[in-house]
Amino acid sequence: MKAIEIRNKYLNYFKNHGHKVIPSAPLIPENDPSVLFNTAGMQPLVPYLLGEKHPEGTRLTDYQKCIRTNDIDEVGDNRHLTFFEMLGNWSLGDYFKEESIKMSFEFLTKELQIPAEKLSVTCFGGNELLPKDEQTAKIWENTGIPRERIYFLNDNWWIAGETGPCGTDTEMFLDTGKPKCCNECNPDCDCGKYVEIWNNVFMEFFKNADGTLTNLKQKNVDTGLGLERVAMLLQGKETPYDIEIFVPVMEKLSKLQKVDEIHSRRIIAEHLRSSIMIISDGGRPSNLDRGYVLRRLIRRMIRHMNKLQINLDELGNLIDLDINVLREMYPELSAKKETIKSVILEEKDKFVKTLTHGEREFAKELNKIKNSGKDILEGKVVFKLYDTYGFPPEVTKDLAVENGIKIDLDEFKKLYKEHQEKSRQGSSQKFKGGLASTGEMETKYHTATHLLNAALKQVLGSHVHQRGSNITDERMRFDFSHDSKMTDEEKNKTEELVNKWIKEGIKVEHLEMRKEEAVNMGAEAMFIEKYGDIVSVYKIGDISLEICGGPHVENTNELGHFKIKKEESSSSGVRRIKAILQ
Ligand code: ALA
Repeated sequence: MKAIEIRNKYLNYFKNHGHKVIPSAPLIPENDPSVLFNTAGMQPLVPYLLGEKHPEGTRLTDYQKCIRTNDIDEVGDNRHLTFFEMLGNWSLGDYFKEESIKMSFEFLTKELQIPAEKLSVTCFGGNELLPKDEQTAKIWENTGIPRERIYFLNDNWWIAGETGPCGTDTEMFLDTGKPKCCNECNPDCDCGKYVEIWNNVFMEFFKNADGTLTNLKQKNVDTGLGLERVAMLLQGKETPYDIEIFVPVMEKLSKLQKVDEIHSRRIIAEHLRSSIMIISDGGRPSNLDRGYVLRRLIRRMIRHMNKLQINLDELGNLIDLDINVLREMYPELSAKKETIKSVILEEKDKFVKTLTHGEREFAKELNKIKNSGKDILEGKVVFKLYDTYGFPPEVTKDLAVENGIKIDLDEFKKLYKEHQEKSRQGSSQKFKGGLASTGEMETKYHTATHLLNAALKQVLGSHVHQRGSNITDERMRFDFSHDSKMTDEEKNKTEELVNKWIKEGIKVEHLEMRKEEAVNMGAEAMFIEKYGDIVSVYKIGDISLEICGGPHVENTNELGHFKIKKEESSSSGVRRIKAILQ
């Protein structure tokens, strides 16, 4: 079964069981520059898991484009991917454990026709906060999984990041039929006998920053099924690179390569797909955060093309080929093909220059070493070549060998690990910021962004549109399209307008309507294609109308005094305002 067929079966199955099919949100989280990428289907749904009413009801299903970058260095093995698709179904305070498990079991055994004997499941094994989840195990037993294939594990617990909605989970594994690696072999084991296919999270708690759990307003179910992995298993393949999504590019690479290396071929195919998907959703290479992730993906792809001695002029054709394959699943790629291509090719040209600089830098270092009578390149120089010039240590090593010197790889590895650790901490910090934003102050700032957006349109012109925002309980950041620096007068006028509206005490109304109607009424939205047919709209008098998930205050008079602290450039054609409420 092709991946797209599995996706269609999934969405249909849940549609037939009362779920509304909602569109995938963009990879780049809307309105939230603090989260790098969507990493799970539940992420765009956090406000609804916390209790806000979803315009489409209490049963939802979708496919969600996801990027996970923690394992970027593992890509090239037989299972890790950075971009992947997660199929999911949600109960927002509707059904809970029993119905969720019954539907999963039926879908796997009837729709995908996986023999029940091949399924093993895990349930929460208990910890100091919560007891062992016997109830879930009983449901599985009644549904058709015998006790000996039900395992209890302590880490059957799921949360995105450090705080937020969470709960115990039950995971489904396919037994590949390989022999047990040892007596204790179970689904938790890495030997490859059991492959996880689906995770059903019973989201009933909120984890607070102090580690305690609070009951959510409602009991939710959040599930995630990795599409590429399930396609691979159903097709009897060993790796995701053997399924139809990757085969055309993999075969093309085999024809182009002058050196045969499967690991590099996979890295090229994987990073090409991820880069295409990120750019399609608005990502652009840069030295910061998500832009840097994209830059790394493209550069790593180029390095591996060099390694296989593939002519870089072939990159344009590879992009065309991949988009042709991918657009069956992601039709939005067709219209963006030229942009995607030019972004990748431009980045390639930049990187080729960098490599040339790196070679020059290497020659300088080589001279230094020869002059000092040494014969080893220090690890910190290898790291500098890597970090500043994007020069892979393998290349440095090759050059060193050619020039009769050694390199200190151990020191390089140490520095590299330290660097990775730092960036990992950086991303989990960010992740945390993204999910914790529902307090009273944040709510006020949410409403203030709508007022600011409206004021900027009046002061600067109707070309102003929101390009992003980031909110903490202490300040707001708002990015918008505008070409030039704001004058003091413009800033003052903007502040005055917002404060005038706050003083007027205008009611903030929450409406639900058809997307078309909202658009006709002139509602603002950052990613109009992201929404389903029925959208949630916030109206502030005659001042502002925006499609938005909220939350918002009820009346503008709750906001206090609005003050712009800074106005600066964010990127080309985009300005950024930092502001506070006093
Ligand atoms: N949110 C859960 C996961 O990503 C379903 O595994």
